[in-house]
Amino acid sequence: MDNNFIERINKLKQERNAVIVAHMYQNDEVQAVADMVGDSYALSKYCTNRPESTIVFCGVDFMAESAKILSPEKTVLIPVADAGCPMADMITAEQLREFKKQYPGYAVATYINSSAAVKAESDVIVTSSNALKVIRGMEEKNIIFGPDRNLGSFIAKQCPEKNIVLWDGFCPTHHKIKKEDVLEIKEKYPNAELLVHPECTPDVTELADYAGSTKGIIDYATASESKEFIIGTEVGVMYQLKKNNPDKKFYIMSCELVCHNMKKTTLESIVNCLEKGEHKIYVPDEVAKKAKKALDRMLELGK
Ligand code: 13P
Ligand code: SF4
Repeated sequence: MDNNFIERINKLKQERNAVIVAHMYQNDEVQAVADMVGDSYALSKYCTNRPESTIVFCGVDFMAESAKILSPEKTVLIPVADAGCPMADMITAEQLREFKKQYPGYAVATYINSSAAVKAESDVIVTSSNALKVIRGMEEKNIIFGPDRNLGSFIAKQCPEKNIVLWDGFCPTHHKIKKEDVLEIKEKYPNAELLVHPECTPDVTELADYAGSTKGIIDYATASESKEFIIGTEVGVMYQLKKNNPDKKFYIMSCELVCHNMKKTTLESIVNCLEKGEHKIYVPDEVAKKAKKALDRMLELGK
C-alpha cells in the first residue's frame, strides 16, 4: 500500500513540477518521501532557491505560510489544511499591537512559530537555530519577544546587553518535559548526553548538555564522541537521529512527546494534495509584504 502511495507521489511530483519538503517532526514515511527534511530555518531558506513552481510543505501552517511569503510567485500547498501550531495561536496581530503600545520604541522580534499577520507586525523573525545570532545582530537594545517565553528567556540569558520583554506563550508538547523526569532518566543513563529544544522550560534547558533547534540536535549528536543521548524534543527527530547515527543509542524523554498537528500529514494526504492541488496557501498582499520584510531581515542577520 505504502509503495503504491510512494509511486503515485513520485509520478505526480513530476507532473506538477513540485518539490516536497518536510519538517523533522513529520511521520517517518513522510520524511522518507521528502526531497528535503529540515528545521524551520533550513526549510524556509531551501524553498527560496528551488526551480520547481510548486512547493508541497509537510509541516504546520506557519511554516507553509513563511515559504509562500518568501516565494510569492510559487504555489505552496499544505497536505492538511488544519495542521496548525498551538503556540503560534497564543498571539494574534491585535494582541501584539496592544502589547506594543505598552512598550513604545521597542523592536519586535518574533519566533517563526507565528501567523503571517503577527509577522507583519514584527521587525524581525527568528527561528530556534538563528535566534541568538539575529538578536545579537539587532542594533536595538529594547526588544519585545514572542510568542515563546522559553526560547525568549533562553536567548535573554545569553544576551545580557539586551532588554527583552517576553510574551507568555509556550509549546504544549515541550511543556510535557518535567525536571523530575529529566533527573530520573539521567540517573538511568548516566553516560548519555541530554539534548533538548529551547522550547523546553528553563529548568529543563539548564540541565542539558546542548539546547538547540531540531537540526542543531541532530548535528550535535552526529558530531559528538558520545554513544548515548537522551532526547528532549518531539519524537519525530528520532528518525533522522537513528538514520544518521546507526551506531549510537537514543532515548526519547517520553513517548508522549508528540505534536499531533505535525502527525496529521500522511502519504495519502500528500497524494491528495498533489492530485487536487490542495490546500493552497494564500497570504493577503499587504500582510505578505510586511511579513516578508521581517523574514528578509532574519535571512540577512542570520547569515
Ligand atoms: P525548529 O525550528 O527546531 O524546526 O522547531 C520548530 C518547532 O516547531 C519546534 O517545536
Ligand atoms: Fe508548535 Fe510545539 Fe508542534 Fe512545534 S512542537 S509545531 S511549537 S505545537
